[in-house]
Amino acid sequence: MSAPSKAVLVTGCSSGIGRATALRLAGSGWKVYASARRPETISQLGDAGCQTLALDVTDEQSMRAAVDSIEQAEGAIGVLINNAGYSQSGAIETVPMDAVRRQFETNVFGLVRLTQLVLPKMRAQRWGKIVNIGSMGGRLSFPGGGHYHATKHAVEAISDALRFELRGFGIDVILLEPGLITTEFGEAATASMADTTIAGDDPYATFNTTVGAVTKGAYDGPMRLLGGGPDRVAKVIERALKRRHPPARITITPSAKLTIGMRRLLPDRAWDVAMRAQFPEPS
Ligand SMILES: NC(=O)c1ccc[n+]([C@@H]2O[C@H](COP(=O)([O-])OP(=O)(O)OC[C@H]3O[C@@H](n4cnc5c(N)ncnc54)[C@H](OP(=O)(O)O)[C@@H]3O)[C@@H](O)[C@H]2O)c1
Repeated sequence: MSAPSKAVLVTGCSSGIGRATALRLAGSGWKVYASARRPETISQLGDAGCQTLALDVTDEQSMRAAVDSIEQAEGAIGVLINNAGYSQSGAIETVPMDAVRRQFETNVFGLVRLTQLVLPKMRAQRWGKIVNIGSMGGRLSFPGGGHYHATKHAVEAISDALRFELRGFGIDVILLEPGLITTEFGEAATASMADTTIAGDDPYATFNTTVGAVTKGAYDGPMRLLGGGPDRVAKVIERALKRRHPPARITITPSAKLTIGMRRLLPDRAWDVAMRAQFPEPS
């Protein structure tokens, strides 16, 4: 039998963690297919040694076309890095349902569908790695981030099930739980709240404004000292891909370790009290 394909497909490479990961892996000799829904954003990655292609994780045809073209060239996708994602922020009641659906389409259903599409050939070659970019937000929930946290909790559950289901085929599933990473993420989260108002005298107005300000403050202020840049996550991925027995989940940055630790220690009501110190309770 010929050697398995170790070609890497990364989603969401227009910026941030996806871009840094594509660059790092290409730089260390992996054959990288960097993808983005707007291909013009990744032309420089082509110059840096990546193959580039269009891939929108909310579009079935786009996902099929990307997987087919890599499989034709490589036989199979060896490493899938499910990175594309964003935060649809805002109080649960204020987020329009089409925005809630888009959030799950991108962060959960896209990850699931792409995994389904690569698995037949990955299983057949009996070697593969699936890296899911979860979040510390999969282990706790901040007020105003309920929809995003729900998607990242889903990624935790899916990764746990997949790890068991795929081990016998020689496929490892690695879940990353980054904390604060300085990328476009904070700005996108704040921008996602543009339409989160409810008609009339909106009782969530102050709350949602504070959620936006706290998000911005976390990425612009001193909290970022407890975070890291996107290459920090890329390095963790590079190391994990080299390991024969990679860890099941990897928490990245002091901000993630501290916050997950605090959530684990505090009973629910005490966590709520801690949250009230940062966010005004809507009433
Ligand atoms: N930054 C953090 O603090 C942090 C912490 C924990 C987890 N994460 C996770 O890390 C992952 C990457 O985020 P990031 O921090 O690198 O933020 P980012 O710089 O905003 O990058 C997000 C990427 O996802 C892409 N994307 C969004 N919708 C997509 C779609 N439908 N199809 C394909 N790509 C799509 C974006 O493309 P466009 O440019 O076209 O929108 C962009 O390339 C996300 O899953 C996020 O939840 C981030």
